[in-house]
Amino acid sequence: HFINVFFFFVLATSGNQTHNLGVAHTMLALCKVSLWDSDEPVPRAELLKGVAGAHGLLCLLSDKIDTEVLDAAGPNLKVISTLSVGFDHMAMDEIKKRGVRVGYTPDVLTDATAELTVALLLATARRLPEGVVEVINGGWSTWKPLWLCGYGLSGSTVGVIGLGRIGMAIARRLKPFGVKKLLYSGRTAKSNAAEVEGEYVPLDTLVSESDFVVVSCALTPDTQGLCNKDFFCKMKNTAVFINTSRGAVVNQEDLYQALSSGQIACAGLDVTTPEPLPTDHPLLTLKNCVVLPHIGSATYSTRGIMAELSANNLLAGLQGTDMPSELKF
Ligand code: NDP
Ligand code: DGY
Repeated sequence: HFINVFFFFVLATSGNQTHNLGVAHTMLALCKVSLWDSDEPVPRAELLKGVAGAHGLLCLLSDKIDTEVLDAAGPNLKVISTLSVGFDHMAMDEIKKRGVRVGYTPDVLTDATAELTVALLLATARRLPEGVVEVINGGWSTWKPLWLCGYGLSGSTVGVIGLGRIGMAIARRLKPFGVKKLLYSGRTAKSNAAEVEGEYVPLDTLVSESDFVVVSCALTPDTQGLCNKDFFCKMKNTAVFINTSRGAVVNQEDLYQALSSGQIACAGLDVTTPEPLPTDHPLLTLKNCVVLPHIGSATYSTRGIMAELSANNLLAGLQGTDMPSELKF
């Protein structure tokens, strides 16, 4: 019997080709696969059509998995596997109600995302994009004592909002830069925080005492809009704000005000609302705002491993066996 799978990611084009092809062949042997054969996201209408009657669904974070998709899939649906660790694009209550299992990709993208966060932090604080532009457009006249000065990590206080897998990996990477104090906030204190001499503090303390505020929490109803006017008003005027979690954790109008009024020094964002950020968005007019196109996990090898893991999650879900990474919710 064929199991129908609607599958929108081209495994064979990702980094770990031999492995991925193996998984893809297994999939093809076991299932009837409807493949969206493009690196571009599947159009909504195609998704709704393709998912009808499917037993499994492999999706991306850009696919909103809501009641409409679940209804379109119908009662056959047993498993959804997302090529991401974040699952805020999925209507979890509705999925749970229908008894559908969910696979995701924690851990395998932690290093790549933490590395990108450090790169973004340094690029923002030391004004690298501005410097590159000045070299190209002839703004580099000579060496000047205060030209393109920024902020360094040595002796600083860093605050991490959400010391989870990625938050911890960021903290581990930042400590050797000479960070004096590492604060973190979240719902619970973390037993592994001692490794980075992390101090669990209330959010207000973190925001007002940190020279660098790094957001690496999940997007939930509690964290939606967490970084708002009140939040930015508590930050130091010299502080650097970095977000590599989800755009909706930040109120972007309030961030724009904070950056343009000098309430905070600068911001680096790998995630925005919406994505892509429209090219005429006010944040893109600011020299002190560095925006990247959601590339936290974008290394060839990481994406290959994510692809393989999400395919194996899907297969396990279809076969009713243990998934390599099942989301328990
Ligand atoms: P984890 O689940 O390990 O960490 C999430 C953290 O969020 C936990 O420490 C949790 O703290 C914290 N958190 C939850 N609720 C709150 C709250 N109300 N206030 C403060 N912190 C809170 O996930 P990962 O570290 O693996 O991933 C984190 C997020 O990073 C993902 O959900 C995704 O959105 C984003 N991401 C972005 C990428 C990119 O490309 N930019 C790449 C990969 C992930 P506690 O345990 O105390 O509840
Ligand atoms: C995730 O996995 O949640 C990221 O945003 C992309 O890798």
